[in-house]
Formats: sequence, C-alpha cells, structure tokens
Amino acid sequence: MSSASQLSLNLDAKNQSSRTHELVKYDPIHVSKSTFLAGLSVHIHRWFRFTPSFAPDLVREMLNKLNAEIGDYILDPFSGAGTTAIELTLEGFNSLGFEINPFLHFVNRTSLNWNLDTESLQLHLSKILEEFCNLREKVSFETLEEFGYKIPSIHNPTRWWRPDILRDLLVLKQCFHKIIKDQHEHDFFRLAFAGVLVPDLTNVTLGRLQLHFINRDRDEIDVAEIFSKHAQQMIKDLCNVQRLPNLGSSKALLQNSTNLSNINLRKKVDCVITSPPYPNRYSYVWNTRPHLYMLDFISAAKEASSIDKKTIGGTWGTATSELSKGRFSPLNKAVEEVVGSTISAIREQDDLMANYALHYFNRLTSHLIELERISSPNLRIAYVVGNSWLKGIYIETDVILAEILDRLKLGYKINSVHRFRKRNSGKELFESIVYASK
Ligand SMILES: C[S@@+](CC[C@H](N)C(=O)[O-])C[C@H]1O[C@@H](n2cnc3c(N)ncnc32)[C@H](O)[C@@H]1O
Repeated sequence: MSSASQLSLNLDAKNQSSRTHELVKYDPIHVSKSTFLAGLSVHIHRWFRFTPSFAPDLVREMLNKLNAEIGDYILDPFSGAGTTAIELTLEGFNSLGFEINPFLHFVNRTSLNWNLDTESLQLHLSKILEEFCNLREKVSFETLEEFGYKIPSIHNPTRWWRPDILRDLLVLKQCFHKIIKDQHEHDFFRLAFAGVLVPDLTNVTLGRLQLHFINRDRDEIDVAEIFSKHAQQMIKDLCNVQRLPNLGSSKALLQNSTNLSNINLRKKVDCVITSPPYPNRYSYVWNTRPHLYMLDFISAAKEASSIDKKTIGGTWGTATSELSKGRFSPLNKAVEEVVGSTISAIREQDDLMANYALHYFNRLTSHLIELERISSPNLRIAYVVGNSWLKGIYIETDVILAEILDRLKLGYKINSVHRFRKRNSGKELFESIVYASK
C-alpha cells in the first residue's frame, strides 16, 4: 500500500472513529441491576452462580431498547449460564441460545427445563440423601477406587478438594445414578450439585476474575446439607414458575457461534441480546475446570484446551501456544481499518498480545458475518462488551465493535453505545451495550 493511500485510510478511520464516539454516552446502571449479583436473589437465575453473567434486569433493558415484541425470535449466541434465555422465557419470548463450553451449555439447557414433576423431585431428593448416608459409611477417600469410584482426572485432585469432601462428592454423584432413572431429573440434580460445587465445596474462592486456591482444612463442611438446601430451593423455584402464565419457550444448543453453517432455522432471528467474552484474557474453560472434570464433561487437559482454542478470547494451554506462533493477519478490510493501528501499537510491546487482540476481533467479526445466515432482514442487536487494557494500550471494544459493524456493510445502522458501568478503579474500563439495527 502506498504511503498516500495509507494516510487517507488512517484519516478515514479517524473520522469514522470520531463519528462513533458521538454515539457514546455514559449512563450508569448500578451493579445490583447489571451484574451477576442481581440474579442471585431471583428464581431460576440463582440456580448457578456464574460471575461473568449479566443481570436479568439488563436483559429487560435491552428488550425495551430493541422494541422487542412477543412473537419476535431472540438469539443469545454467547449464552453462558443462560441469563438471557431464562429471563426471556419468564417474559413470554421464544429464544435460542448458543454456547461452546459443554458444561455451561448443560447449565443453560437444564435451567430451562421447567416441566419436571416437583413431587417426584422432592421424593427422589429424600431417597438420594438416605442412600448418601448408607454409601458414605462404607467408603473412605483411601478406598474410593477399590469401590469403583472414579476420581476426576484433573491435575492434583486433592488440591481442588479436601479428601473427605471429594469422597462425599463422588458418593453423592453415585446416588444420582442409583436412584434417578429419568434423564431430565438426573440433570436437575447434577445441576443442583454443580450449583454448590464452587465456591462452597471446592478449595477455591471466586476472585475478581479468576478462581483462587484457598485452604479449607479447618472449615466445617456438610456436603449433604449444602446440596440439599440448594436442591430444595431449586424445587421451590420450579413450583413458583410452573404457576406463571404465558411463559415463552427457549432452546440452548452446544454451538460455536463463529461458524453457523450447520444451523438451519425454520424461523429467522429478529433480535440478538448477548455478551461475548471480553478481550481481557479471561478463560471460561480455565475457570470452569472443576465443573468440567467433576461432572465428567472432560477427562484430560488437552480436551479443555481444545475447547478454549475454539472460543472467542480463548487463552489457555495450547490456545496460548498457538497465539505465540508468527503474526496473525486481519480477517478482512474492516478489521484491518478499525484495529490495525491498535494492533501495531501492541505489537511494539508484545507479539503474543498483538496476536491475542487481533484473533479476538477476527473471531468476533466472523461471528457477525455468520449471523447473516440465520437473521431476518430487520435484525436488531444489543451486544454487551467490555473495554480492556493490553500492554498499556487501550482496547475500546465498544467503539471498535460499532465501527467494524459499520464497515462490514451488512446494512447495520449503529444506534448507540451505552456505557453503563465503570469496572472498579481501572481507567476507562467501561462495560457498554452496543445497539445496532438493520
Ligand atoms: C460473557 S459470557 C456470557 C454470559 C451470559 N450472558 C450469562 O449471563 O451467563 C461469554 C460466553 O461466550 C462463550 N463463548 C466463547 N466463545 C464462543 C463461541 N465461539 N461460540 C459460542 N460461545 C462462545 C463462553 O464460553 C462464555 O460462556
């Protein structure tokens, strides 16, 4: 490229960027209405505590802004623990979710199954607890394998779980197998189990972002009681939602949202409400390892890194070694024009981080292009994203996403960029909702 055309490209990108900045407004929404904390006191949402979740209130905020009406088909392509789908179902909307992490997909799918017989669940819960007392008497941590219990093949399992707790968890899982014959009920109890695994029953605490190991040697921990209390709460929630009129219906698929060639929908998607990963090196796979192993979704580290390699922002194990090889190229002209200079600035400091950021925006862009396959001509979208700092360079994800959308020439009009939260003390670490429509 000649230096003259490079100059005009830079100027063009600069003008575009200032136009997009005019659409940015800061209008805070309190954490009690924007983060996972809000969901902890709301039925169904509280079944699984997932710190990267957004609040049910935020889903309603986006529904309103998108002027969504009952009958619109709504997609969450990065559905995590299923906040969007749960809230949409409660609000009477039909929706579809995609999630790449098999454990989170399980949480999402199981949290949407509200037709279970609550009397049968109650009866089976009592039987599980009774059987737990019987089986637990007979086995110690040392004799687990002799009795046929399979210790999760996670590296150093007793770093993750105190030996007596590990014994209790494996016995409890065995009770589900022995007592529950119906697959949906079985999933329900597995979700109740997953819902208390972290942080209550694992040697970790949930830090601001990552899991941190802690010492639980002196804690008094009654596995059966903790599990039973949560399962009871879940059954009560089910009784409550089963009485509600006009519920919608939602489906969750295990699906990579950067390639939708396998998806064939009878009805096209009218709205997207979602939150993709942020470019902050947080790995959903790394942080769900205790669940992935304990609930038998994976049995080897290479399976975990192969999932992470396919995720947006994946950065664990071989996902990182792949990013350290060579120089990544922008997916297309839109990515090059919008993030080219940011990537060059990061590259001056660190090749790996430059590849990481470019790969992140390449994948996000692939997803936006793939969305065309399944969306209606009047699509409206709301993407919750987070700005980040990488190697001292500011990654203004909200503005970048808006500009990529504009430059892809898919027919989007960018409506607004609503910065609703400033994360902790971090400079400019905004979380925003990018609204666009066709
Ligand atoms: C910010 S979280 C979504 C949280 C969700 N809004 C909630 O309330 O639980 C982003 C999710 O995107 C998923 N993800 C990452 N890459 C993906 C991909 N390529 N396809 C589908 N899901 C993906 C991650 O596993 C993670 O669960």
